[in-house]
Amino acid sequence: MSDNKVTLNYDGKSFEYPIVDSTIGDRGIDISKLRDQTGLITLDLGYKNTGATISEITYLDGDKGELFYRGYPIEQIAEKSNFTEVMYLLLHGELPSTEQFSSFENNIKKYNFVADELKKLIDVFPRSAHPMGVLSSLTSALTAFNPKAVDVKSKEELDLAAELMIAKFSHLCAWTYRKTQGLPINHGDNSLNYVENFYKMAFRLPYEEFEIDPVVVEALDKLLILHADHEQNCSTSTVRMVGSAHTGLFASISAGVSALWGPLHGGANQAVIEMLEMIEKDGGDVSKYVAKAKDKEDSFRLMGFGHRVYKNFDPRAKIIKKAADDILGKLGIQDKALDIAMQLERVALEDDYFVERKLYPNVDFYSGIIYRALGIPTEMFTVMFALGRLPGWISQWKEMRLKGDPIGRPRQVYQGAEKRNYVDIASR
Ligand code: SDX
Repeated sequence: MSDNKVTLNYDGKSFEYPIVDSTIGDRGIDISKLRDQTGLITLDLGYKNTGATISEITYLDGDKGELFYRGYPIEQIAEKSNFTEVMYLLLHGELPSTEQFSSFENNIKKYNFVADELKKLIDVFPRSAHPMGVLSSLTSALTAFNPKAVDVKSKEELDLAAELMIAKFSHLCAWTYRKTQGLPINHGDNSLNYVENFYKMAFRLPYEEFEIDPVVVEALDKLLILHADHEQNCSTSTVRMVGSAHTGLFASISAGVSALWGPLHGGANQAVIEMLEMIEKDGGDVSKYVAKAKDKEDSFRLMGFGHRVYKNFDPRAKIIKKAADDILGKLGIQDKALDIAMQLERVALEDDYFVERKLYPNVDFYSGIIYRALGIPTEMFTVMFALGRLPGWISQWKEMRLKGDPIGRPRQVYQGAEKRNYVDIASR
């Protein structure tokens, strides 16, 4: 039986702190009394060893390369479920019955309208604007048209806000794409399921009938499932932090979109393709770029490699790598970038630098290959990540609000100037 407390010896005294148990994975030291008792705080840059909350939604084991959504292994979910069902599972904690699924899907369709005024907002952006900047702005602007989703208190109000957000966010993602392509904006088609509807809103051309390609829809559905949640990552922690101030759901999600945009986080899927294209243009010598990634004097990093938690293969990367092969085969596409990615993976995983640091391909390494095969432009890859991560952000925000987590307000170790008096400019 493991100890249920730890002892800290400091300043000639001993202090005991209880250990908070887990169902599986990391147990946590409850240090809520540390500062009052010792005058000390902890310091953990990037929170590499720090738990911010107690959660029941997603579990991942970085050493084993395991990922569970509400206890279900990602491999089973990716193979047997669909994105709408995964959204329900993450939000409500259980797989839905047939009735629950239909009611959830019908509610989303009921809210499947976005105020026309938002189209005027999209028009003011230049076509060259990065889609993630447009998406973050539109998401926050949704608040103005859905005041009910702001000051939510009950579980019912929370669930309504969640369904409003899910219904409207896919429009914003599709419209953001249309903006970059200079295409007219379409409203949804309630005869279609969630992923088909997004696909048609994004890709339907004004002058021809639209064919729903099942290969494309299946690939999109799988990718959205694989991105749906990932415990306390950077963007989810941002959504929780903003929501802990009791900011509305839409504004909290808008903050999450901005965090995901970063190339070290969700923006990596765009950076991977740009890296593979650069290697291809430079003659395809992957060893040269592996050497650059190892060179401390060179800021180049192998995008799509490494992870804060996974020190083994990211299970999502394994599924996406296989899916990339399948989809390119089904669509009859030869993509040099996939060949380069596979070469890069092989060379890196044989190199001590990557092996010692346990740097493996992550979710972003192969996803862009599939998005590109589906005709999605590189700058839209992170928007696709955001659409997938939406149910995870909402579920974590809902859990934070229902559990009554306190407003987030970390401390600091101050190493700035000591107290000193103001000096008039004439005397400086
Ligand atoms: C996502 O948190 C999540 O769950 C995120 C995510 C999700 O689903 O929400 O999984 C999605 O964001 C995936 C990660 C996408 N980002 C990238 O692919 C960008 C490239 N990867 C890295 O920048 C890096 O690996 C991070 C940011 C992902 C993780 O960085 P850490 O945990 O802070 O590790 P670190 O930067 O301290 O690196 C440790 C060592 C360093 O070398 P040393 O100083 O020990 O000599 O590994 C090296 C780093 O230089 N290193 C890399 C590298 N990643 C880490 N060297 C070369 N290429 C890389 N990609």
